[in-house]
Amino acid sequence: MKHFIDISDFTIKKLDLITQKAKQIKKNPKKFSNKCKNKTLGMIFEKESTRTRVSFTVGFQKLGGNVLELNSESIGFNKRESAQDILKTLTQFIDLLVIRNNDHKLIKKLSTLNSLPIINGLSDFSHPCQILSDMLTINENIGNIKNKQITWIGDYNNVLRSLIELQILYKFKLNVVLPKEIIKKNQSKIINKNNKNFMITNIIKEGVQYADCIMTDAWVSMGEKSTKKKYFKNYQVNTEVMKIASKEAIFMHCLPAHRDEEVSSELLESKRSVVWQQAKNRMFVQQAIVLDLI
Ligand code: CP
Ligand code: NVA
Repeated sequence: MKHFIDISDFTIKKLDLITQKAKQIKKNPKKFSNKCKNKTLGMIFEKESTRTRVSFTVGFQKLGGNVLELNSESIGFNKRESAQDILKTLTQFIDLLVIRNNDHKLIKKLSTLNSLPIINGLSDFSHPCQILSDMLTINENIGNIKNKQITWIGDYNNVLRSLIELQILYKFKLNVVLPKEIIKKNQSKIINKNNKNFMITNIIKEGVQYADCIMTDAWVSMGEKSTKKKYFKNYQVNTEVMKIASKEAIFMHCLPAHRDEEVSSELLESKRSVVWQQAKNRMFVQQAIVLDLI
């Protein structure tokens, strides 16, 4: 049984096929309008979500399917009943399950049961739907990611881990700019250290020079303590930072944005920013993912 848990579970060939399918769906949605007829997508969000929730719901409906969001509190996910037993029951009614939670190990464990295709809708560890969709947005704006330099500025978090996994496959140049406290804290955990196209620095200029795309995300992810915010005060992405990058560089943010914290409101609203297109593309890539799993 197929699942969509982490970017590292896939080959370039497979990810290219999914993004190509996403482009086809975006171009000609009518052609796909009954591909999921009589199918039901279940969703469990243990954390907040706007884009993932809406893009999966509307995306699956546009493929002709039904969507059922299960409130994890109401079904007592892993409290009233074990997640495994809930899954065994759900299997008899639904065809796929999106889970967003703070427990990546549980998402992986549920996928190994092979009773229902599982999609990771974001965990404490990774956010693969976001990064695969971001590859489409990069492709639409600046061309093939393989020949580009991407710079991440901010926290070592779930979105960055998926981006690093993508870099390991596609070998594009990835510069990661993190405050020194964050580098120190994650030193032993940072994957991908021995890779000539991968660099970590705490100096913005060093990481941003020649960048074709600058990405950031919240300084404090859902479920984390806000005490770490203090380390990021000199790491806002703004028009001054963009000036150091390539002339045509784009700005990306998975959203939600904390305006005038990790990104200036001015940059978010500027021509360089592709964040709204980035949010829209989530739907097409996730439609392609479900079509691959179903
Ligand atoms: N980027 C993203 O996943 O947004 P939501 O948290 O709103 O789903
Ligand atoms: N890193 C952020 C991403 C939100 C889409 C978080 O986990 O809160």
